[in-house]
Amino acid sequence: MSTPYDLSVVRSTNSPIYVTHDNTQLLRQLLTGFNSKRCMFIVDEQVAALHPWLSELLQAVFSDVVYAVVPSGETSKTVQEWTRLVDIALTNTLRRGTPVIAAGGGVTGDLAGFVASSVLRGLPLIHIPTTLLAMVDSSIGGKTGINHATGKNLIGAFYQPALVYADTRFLDTLPRKEWNCGLGEVLKYACIQDPSVFALLENTTLRENHQDMVYLVERCMKIKADMVMQDELENGVRAYLNFGHTFAHALEAHTRYRRFAHGEAVYVGLAAALWFASRLGAPVDPDRILGFRAAFNLQTRDLIPAIPSLVAAMYSDKKIRTGNLRLVLLNDWGEPVVQDVEDTRMVEQAWNFALENVHS
Ligand SMILES: NC(=O)c1ccc[n+]([C@@H]2O[C@H](COP(=O)([O-])OP(=O)(O)OC[C@H]3O[C@@H](n4cnc5c(N)ncnc54)[C@H](O)[C@@H]3O)[C@@H](O)[C@H]2O)c1
Repeated sequence: MSTPYDLSVVRSTNSPIYVTHDNTQLLRQLLTGFNSKRCMFIVDEQVAALHPWLSELLQAVFSDVVYAVVPSGETSKTVQEWTRLVDIALTNTLRRGTPVIAAGGGVTGDLAGFVASSVLRGLPLIHIPTTLLAMVDSSIGGKTGINHATGKNLIGAFYQPALVYADTRFLDTLPRKEWNCGLGEVLKYACIQDPSVFALLENTTLRENHQDMVYLVERCMKIKADMVMQDELENGVRAYLNFGHTFAHALEAHTRYRRFAHGEAVYVGLAAALWFASRLGAPVDPDRILGFRAAFNLQTRDLIPAIPSLVAAMYSDKKIRTGNLRLVLLNDWGEPVVQDVEDTRMVEQAWNFALENVHS
């Protein structure tokens, strides 16, 4: 076991967030602080297989661990899986203070979070995010939920975790495609808040350097936590987190959620939104984003003829409140702005730029 490197705490809406590398001693101490003999442990199946140390640690801290493994993938964010977990919780007679520990990516976190929010009107929730995306995005902000046949994340609740423990040790086993899912969001933070994150990402040995990884994850978690703190229920600045996402959602919907992972679609969306912002006069060069295209290795040029359909899909995005297309753009790096867009021709050109240039 390697030595723990760094330890940082971020306070976000009473949810302490710890970012560290391989600090089991700290995790043990934090869990002991819940003063409970029991816990419910909801874990992604891959994480259970690749990181058995976590289950062993929980068994050392709690005398009774109610264990539930969640099958990997988005198909677990269903009413059926939520019911199965609620059944496990209630048949094991969990009590009000029993912590629910969610270990996995955004799927496990969203699902287990919704279980924690609904059983006995709320049990303490502990997030142990294990993907880059879950660390920098889904474990922060209190959004929990599952999908419905009519759309993604339509059933759920805002429910803040009692603790987030992000250990970059988990990232050592993360496949490249899953890494890219997080990378799309990390690049978004670089655009909307802190362009110095680009330099961290351009370091080719990032994934081998634990200290740099901890710093990167911590920086991104702080950016999201700050925005959530300012706007917990998503009426204001939290909208900035949608930078690139109106394009991304359209791309995902048009390709029926099969061809691109969300983070890959976000990457295309960032290129389109940056082009748009630069066209409106912002001093931002979309090439900064294009430097990462080899990592994403996307094939997109065949979608150029589909641009009118992609634009139409943007207008049907659920976040559009008026008849106008409302996009998050930039006035400069780190200066997001929400703007109504009337020039559909320019939206098409933005798509054209992105689909032409992110292509590897
Ligand atoms: N709540 C929010 O605010 C929020 C924000 C963004 C995304 N989301 C949700 O997050 C979900 C996507 O999350 P995700 O990208 O983490 O996907 P995921 O949870 O499906 O995990 C991706 C894959 O990685 C595997 N995995 C997880 N940890 C691993 C590890 N350490 N090593 C090896 N494999 C590992 C999983 O088994 C899975 O196959 C979506 O459902 C999305 O809606 C929620």
